[in-house]
Amino acid sequence: MEIKAVRGMNDLFGDELARWQFVENRLRRIMTNFGYAEIRTPTLEKVEVFKAVGDETDIVEKQMYQVQDRGAHADSKPEVLVLRPEGTAGFIRAVMEHGLGNTGHRGRYYYLGPMFRYERPQKGRLRQFHQLGAELIHDASPEADAELILLFDHILTNLGLQKTHYEIRINSVMCKDCRPAYREKLIGYFMPHKAELCDNCQRRLERAPMRILDCKNEACKKLAEKAPLGIDNLDEKCRVHHARVKACLDAEKVTYVEDPYIVRGLDYYSRTAFEFTSNLLGAQSALGGGGRYDGLSARFGKQDFASVGWAIGMERVMLALEATGTVFPKQPGPLAYFAAMGEKAFDLLFPLHHKLKKAGLAIDMPYEKDKGLKWLMKQADRVGAAYAVMVGDYELGSGQAVVKQLSTGTQENVALKDLETYLHSKAGATQGAH
Ligand code: HAM
Repeated sequence: MEIKAVRGMNDLFGDELARWQFVENRLRRIMTNFGYAEIRTPTLEKVEVFKAVGDETDIVEKQMYQVQDRGAHADSKPEVLVLRPEGTAGFIRAVMEHGLGNTGHRGRYYYLGPMFRYERPQKGRLRQFHQLGAELIHDASPEADAELILLFDHILTNLGLQKTHYEIRINSVMCKDCRPAYREKLIGYFMPHKAELCDNCQRRLERAPMRILDCKNEACKKLAEKAPLGIDNLDEKCRVHHARVKACLDAEKVTYVEDPYIVRGLDYYSRTAFEFTSNLLGAQSALGGGGRYDGLSARFGKQDFASVGWAIGMERVMLALEATGTVFPKQPGPLAYFAAMGEKAFDLLFPLHHKLKKAGLAIDMPYEKDKGLKWLMKQADRVGAAYAVMVGDYELGSGQAVVKQLSTGTQENVALKDLETYLHSKAGATQGAH
């Protein structure tokens, strides 16, 4: 029986994984430089964590993978757990649980890991995908929103994407003060056309009318074109906030598009909402998105603090980089490949290769003892070693190994007793390249 991976969940290995690791290392460095500390939260959370996000969102309503915990031990109940569909809710749960927000000081956090959504898989849309997320708590200023957008922009530029490859789309989704009146206005606008809306939007009409604005259904889209827009109904505080975010981006000469139809798929946002879209991706064009979500912490407990953040879809970033023909540095092979010809040579080289590996040098050595030079050199090439160290009966007799630099083909004899020091000096010289 052939057992395959779950549809929409990928294995990562070889060159592709090397590309991921290159990008991940780069991202971790950037996040650290910008003052964001890593936080790792569990992949499984109680279902209540995501219910707090809002039952009205597709992600919570239809896309969560649920797990029934057994509750077989005295200290656990048979409860419903969820494979996290996103990182923000679990992040806020952790902040509250550990009192990370108690100091009242600004806190910057990032996470990088797998998320799960039950979706119809297609290019750039998976059931297990990965996000880099950034969250900034205890800062209600528009500059904080701008910081997040500028950081996202910097990441894409740093990875080599050009300004022509992506667009920053921003909007204000209002606040708890000005949204209720606008909601009523929107319901009033759509209600006479209820029958023309798709089933989903008919259901949403009274509970989440703003979601109708980003429905992909043609009839809904057509109606939405003439709908009153949130951006025209902001109260004074939201208007000033939004203007200041834009002014910060202008000051940095970062261009953006104002898109009044961005409402975001998760309903915890207030004021600034944004998406980075790319023309390199096809239908799933969002590289990432986020915004301000000031009200979310209050849904978890007593504390109510300001927060803003985003998440970048790693698979989509990788697709965009591939589409632009980004050349990634090749993964370095080992420093040396030990080619032992015969048992005696093997017994001499095996302990040395292990000693050098323990000292931090990358040494490869096959365990076949009966192979000829041709086979061994082919393997040395295949693994991409910088040097091949050859020892057979003749070399044992003369006390000298033959060391060949594979990139140039140059060879030299090295006394067996000096081999260890010799390789250490080569490791020092090739640091960076190896
Ligand atoms: P989101 O817009 O749901 O936001 O997801 C962010 C990004 O994750 C998307 O723009 C996309 O690049 C990627 N993504 C989402 N679903 C999939 C999928 N099925 N396959 C591949 N990539 C996917 C959030 O998750 C919020 N938690 C962002 C946030 C953080 N807001 C505030 N802080």
